[in-house]
Amino acid sequence: MRVIIENDADQVAKVAAFFVGQVIHENRPSKTKNPVLGLATGSTPLKLYEILIEQYKAGELSFAGVTTFNLDEYVGLPANHEQSYRNFMQRHLFDHIDIDPASTFLPSVSSPDLRQEGLRYDQRILEAGGIDLQLLGIGFDGHIGFNEPGSSLASPTRLKALTRQTRADNSRFFDSIDQVPKLSVTMGIGSILKAKQCLLLATGTQKQDAVQAMIEGPVSSRVPASALQLHPNTVVLLDEAAAAKLEFQDYYRDSESLQREIQPIAI
Ligand code: PGA
Repeated sequence: MRVIIENDADQVAKVAAFFVGQVIHENRPSKTKNPVLGLATGSTPLKLYEILIEQYKAGELSFAGVTTFNLDEYVGLPANHEQSYRNFMQRHLFDHIDIDPASTFLPSVSSPDLRQEGLRYDQRILEAGGIDLQLLGIGFDGHIGFNEPGSSLASPTRLKALTRQTRADNSRFFDSIDQVPKLSVTMGIGSILKAKQCLLLATGTQKQDAVQAMIEGPVSSRVPASALQLHPNTVVLLDEAAAAKLEFQDYYRDSESLQREIQPIAI
């Protein structure tokens, strides 16, 4: 894991935008395959999406030819519900950039056979050439996507129940916790681990424990994000607050400054 500690959430978003831009430029449609991004919802990537929109509007970045696959979608909300993840992505990114709407995918939750639908989603990712960069957040309980504690570390995209904790965390977007869906279709941990690169963002003191367990704890389904320790190319991008409980902070900082001498990050 490459652990990058930045001063604050704004800086985290800027560095994240650098990684996203790099993957798009390296996989331009003129080359052998189109860029494929794995995207996430939640509060954490919002600043990153704002920067990507600014870069598009300034003519610095184009999403033409880019394909996207989102991590998850709630089951049980009407398609046009304000809090559906399709809606979130339209509002916070897709409606403001030059991406082809037909190339933006989220798990379909209207199919009568959600198990099959999950497998079809993984197959569609494969057919697109695999995900070049998977963006991730982390839940307070250590989840990635909606892979809650106890999830198989080899899981495919599938139907998954949300924990009470996750429903409580997400109730801030709804009128009450009772309105938060109990089910989702989420990319599995096995699906996520197939991405060529993972970029996990975490900011704020509330993420300290989950971040520490993910990076320095044992690989365990108790902390689903710890499975990323098995991924050969994962960048964990943190602000000072989220990194505060890491035991080896000094090493991560030393290592990162050496890395940047070799491969500078232009922001
Ligand atoms: P957040 O959610 O970005 O809103 O904190 C992250 C997650 O639950 O994966």
